[in-house]
Amino acid sequence: MPGFKLAIDGPAGSGKSTISSLIAKKMGWTHIDTGAMYRAVTLQAIEQGIDLNDESAYSFLETSHIHYDLDKIFINDRDVTEDIRSDAVTKNVSLVSSFPYVRKRLVSLQKKAAEEGNIVMDGRDIGTVVLPHADLKIFLTANVEERAKRRLKENLKKGKQSEMEKVIEDIATRDQKDTTRKESPLRIAEDAIILDTTHLTIEEVVSKIIELTDKKENKHGV
Ligand code: DC
Repeated sequence: MPGFKLAIDGPAGSGKSTISSLIAKKMGWTHIDTGAMYRAVTLQAIEQGIDLNDESAYSFLETSHIHYDLDKIFINDRDVTEDIRSDAVTKNVSLVSSFPYVRKRLVSLQKKAAEEGNIVMDGRDIGTVVLPHADLKIFLTANVEERAKRRLKENLKKGKQSEMEKVIEDIATRDQKDTTRKESPLRIAEDAIILDTTHLTIEEVVSKIIELTDKKENKHGV
């Protein structure tokens, strides 16, 4: 596996994607947001009108082409970066990502995408399943209230008003589903470094991870 592989996992709203994207820009590395891939499958399933509870209906993945490039996500070359953030997708993505068939397909795409070059990949099972031999594994946490505050701010930026209590409830429900599902639940890899970001700014988290990366790179001469 040539290149440095950085795995960033954590629960909903822990800042994974924003932080991974900034690290990739600063280091000139490739960023892959695996949550966006599960969202893309969910969007496609909703648009195709399949029964979302029927695992076998996801066989449409045999012929669909999902890829992530420069912080944009595409289904069959259609840019769905905005569409995957809809409420309908957010509500159903935990269900869709719980199916072994869906996970198998996406994990295989993700492993392939990480083969070449320096990669920052973020998600829920990167350090445990997708890149178990990553050079550095980070697990980001923050308390639910802080994560909800961040989500509210993000929504406001997009002109969307939301209620704090509702956002807290959504995040807590998703945490519960993501950590208790049978297939690759969200859990901390044994060799991951845990960073609690509740009282840290985005810039502070980015600097800390880059510092840890530099240390590893010097040690291994990657
Ligand atoms: O990071 P996000 O909130 O955009 O992820 C959306 C959902 O996708 C999340 O609720 C769980 C799932 N997911 C997953 O199961 N495995 C990953 N590696 C990434 C995301």
